[in-house]
Amino acid sequence: MFNDTSTPLSLLTTRRSGKPRDLTAPGPSPEQLEQMIAIAARTPDHGKLAPWRFVIVDDRAALATLITDAYRAERPQAARIEIESLEQFAHQAPALVVVLSSPSTTSHIPRWEQELSAGAATMNLLHAAHAMGFAGGWLTGWPTFSEVVRDAFGGPHERIAGFVFLGTPGRPLDERPRPDLARVISHWP
Ligand SMILES: Cc1cc2nc3c(=O)[nH]c(=O)nc-3n(C[C@H](O)[C@H](O)[C@H](O)COP(=O)(O)O)c2cc1C
Repeated sequence: MFNDTSTPLSLLTTRRSGKPRDLTAPGPSPEQLEQMIAIAARTPDHGKLAPWRFVIVDDRAALATLITDAYRAERPQAARIEIESLEQFAHQAPALVVVLSSPSTTSHIPRWEQELSAGAATMNLLHAAHAMGFAGGWLTGWPTFSEVVRDAFGGPHERIAGFVFLGTPGRPLDERPRPDLARVISHWP
C-alpha cells in the first residue's frame, strides 16, 4: 500500500517527505516547478483572496548570506557550527520554494482562515511534487521566524509558511509512524 504509486489514490497514500539534505538532482525543471505551483494554487481559499505567494529561490549563496548575516546580527556570539548549519540549510536540494502566508489586511475573512489556506497550499505543493516523481521537504526553523529574512521575501503583513525543498530522493524515503486513527477520529454527538 505504501509503495504503489500507480493510481491517483495510491499517490495520496504513498506521499511522504524527503529530508531536504538527502534530496539530489534532478530537481524540477522551471516548467515542472511552474506546474507544481499551479497545482499548489488550486487550494481552498475563503473569499478568493489567494492569501499566499510562492517565491522560487534562484541564488542559494545569496540566501545563505541573508540568513547568516541576519543570525549574526541577532546573536553576535553565534558559534561557527551554528553558522555552518544555516549555510547548509540554504544549500539543500536542487530546488527551493519559499511559501509566504500573505493575508489580505482589508478583507473581512479572518486572518486565521487565510493562514490555514497557506498551509493547505504548501501541502498541495508537496503532493504535486510527489505526483510528478519528486519529493519535497517542508522546513521552518530559525530563518522562518527572522523578521530580516521575512522582509527579504515579503512585507510586514506576511509570514513565511515554510521553506519547501524539492528534488529526487538520494535514498529510499523513510516511512514514519502515522497517527493512530482511533485517536484522531471521533463522532459527534
Ligand atoms: C509547518 C511545518 C514546519 C516544519 N518544520 C520542520 C523543521 O524545521 N524541521 C524538521 O525536521 N521538520 C519540520 N517539519 C516536519 C517535516 O516537514 C515533515 O512533516 C516530517 O518530516 C514528516 O513528513 P511526512 O508526513 O510528509 O512524511 C515541519 C512540518 C510542518 C508542517
